[in-house]
Amino acid sequence: MSQNQAVRQATPRHYLMCRPTYFDVTYAINAWMDPAKPVDTDLAIEQWEGLRRLYLEHGHTVDLIEPVAGLPDMVFSANGATVVDDRVLVARFRHRERVPEAASYQEWFAARGYRGVHSAEYVNEAEGDYMVLGDRVLAGTGFRTDPRAHAELQRTLGRPVVTLTLVDPRFYHLDTALAVLSDTEIMYYPGAFSAESLTTLRELYPDAILVDEDDAETFGLNAVSDGRAVFLPHTATVLADRLRDRGFEPVGVDLSELLKAGGSVKCCTLEIRHQPRA
Ligand code: ARG
Repeated sequence: MSQNQAVRQATPRHYLMCRPTYFDVTYAINAWMDPAKPVDTDLAIEQWEGLRRLYLEHGHTVDLIEPVAGLPDMVFSANGATVVDDRVLVARFRHRERVPEAASYQEWFAARGYRGVHSAEYVNEAEGDYMVLGDRVLAGTGFRTDPRAHAELQRTLGRPVVTLTLVDPRFYHLDTALAVLSDTEIMYYPGAFSAESLTTLRELYPDAILVDEDDAETFGLNAVSDGRAVFLPHTATVLADRLRDRGFEPVGVDLSELLKAGGSVKCCTLEIRHQPRA
């Protein structure tokens, strides 16, 4: 069966999100952030509610973590922890502005009976740089996550980790340059990776969707797939057509306010894979 004829099956997902109650751009820790540009927090909340509603309408579970005043980037819950089975590796943030967020995630998971909640020794920004698919984890480095954190992740999760190096400051987290579509399929923007990492990606995923610079710049790769629906910024139109050709259902989302902090759909979504064993 060719890929365009594949019947796509969605599986119900469990997400953790954080309402952007205190969202703002008051510092600049990536190329997209400009504290001089005004931010409309109410609009950010409305747009974020739209994403949450879409997940619920698609049959997914959304848990919420309490936002903390003074932590304007906490809406980007993907950066909080990496969760596989009962194991949780809590993030250690690179920039001091975000360091305190980790404690909230540590508490959230510990309070819910996850037994293997590990605090990290090395800087890692969790699902911002870590993509779990099939039995492996693709792990980004170059701007945020310390390469030494990759071995720590492999030890903690017990899964093989493939290191990928990011080279373009616009694509500072792996989830701005690459997205997982299913256990075996990905899409990525080649320009964001080192030559060596590109060779790795081509070998591992010869059928990947290669995304052009325009769709990557509009954060089209900051996408979440449930196996059939792919939630992505509504501005990534070429990419949406290509996803449709492959049998996916692209679902466009407008998170323009959050983009001012360099984040979109995936950044707002931490996936909890499996529940704790009671
Ligand atoms: N302003 C945040 C930062 O620079 C944005 C984080 C976006 N999150 C992500 N998963 N890419 O840390």
